[in-house]
Amino acid sequence: MTEILKLDPLHPDPAIIHKAAQIIHTGGLVAFPTETVYGLGANALDSHAVQRIFLAKGRPANDPLIVHIQNKDWLESIVRNFPPQTEALVNHFWPGPLTLIFPRKEIIPPNVTAGGENVAVRAPSHPVAQALLAACGVPIAAPSANRFGHTSPTQAKHVLEDLGGRIDLVLDGGDCSIGLESTVLDLTQNPPVILRPGGIPREEIERIIGKVLLATKSPEMEEVLPSPGLLQRHYSPNSTLILVENTSGNRASAIKVMLDFVLKAQKEVQKPIGILTVNEETHHYESFHQLEVISLGSVNNLQEIGRNLFAGLRTLEQAGVEVILTTDFGEEGLGLAIRDRLRRAASQIIRI
Ligand code: TXA
Ligand code: MG
Repeated sequence: MTEILKLDPLHPDPAIIHKAAQIIHTGGLVAFPTETVYGLGANALDSHAVQRIFLAKGRPANDPLIVHIQNKDWLESIVRNFPPQTEALVNHFWPGPLTLIFPRKEIIPPNVTAGGENVAVRAPSHPVAQALLAACGVPIAAPSANRFGHTSPTQAKHVLEDLGGRIDLVLDGGDCSIGLESTVLDLTQNPPVILRPGGIPREEIERIIGKVLLATKSPEMEEVLPSPGLLQRHYSPNSTLILVENTSGNRASAIKVMLDFVLKAQKEVQKPIGILTVNEETHHYESFHQLEVISLGSVNNLQEIGRNLFAGLRTLEQAGVEVILTTDFGEEGLGLAIRDRLRRAASQIIRI
């Protein structure tokens, strides 16, 4: 049985937080909201509890977990040494959606880091996550609270859809405000390498510490080998996602490709087709039958698009669409993380 407890995201009830902390202390699993996505938490210092995370998610043991701490003062207990950029980064971005990779201390069990020498650490800003960490007094290992390979949860009901019956408690603190996972930055390399673009844009990091590299397999960007856990296909909905990747930035030609595709696909596919679009462009799809159209927000508001992306994918998949069609939104700011998640979810990419 999975218990679900609702709480005020800004002023979480101490009695509920206390109950969640007790579950963590006794080796259980608690899903909790963070500003990025919901996490599936266990005591990071208890290897048996950590093992339960891998089992509940169906996650392969070679994919390491992020350790969550309340603030930078906790770093010393789990990290062997700090690269020079640490101070400026944590002062600027913590608590918040930035995960940093450091050499780990022995206190971190090997299954947290998938046997590796480095540990990923972040201090989440969400008041529920902060309260839970304060009440626990131990670091919490937490991946996104979805079944392995599925879209990350941005609402408590998404967690229940994927993990109901497999974990002890879900703290329901409403919708996540960022909706995209944290940026993962490897500080053990110089210059540091972004292993996963996320809630803190590359440009903001570079403003604080100068040039960073981007781990990617795509030829137009710097080449660095990604970490073992960075599987190409991840975050996928159950429907087939087709991404029209708009490298030119010309929205009109992306819309034309989408409309041509819909016309062709409607002849072949019997079920409705899903469209993920933006407020300014929904009218293009109004004259079609058998389309499920979802707007992610305004084309000029990447925060809004990022916040609604995963929920939009889940809604379309639940509507039973066979195919979802969408475009990306460039690579500036949060656009890079949005493109990354769409690429990982896509079965097919049409580059224009
Ligand atoms: O926003 C987030 O980061 C959310 C919330 C819950 O904090 N967590 C999250 O965790 O997205 P997860 O497990 O779904 O993704 C963690 C990513 C994976 O791509 C993993 O490979 C990478 O971080 N990672 C974790 N530890 C690592 C390490 N020691 N070295 C390299 N990559 C690591
Ligand atoms: Mg994940």
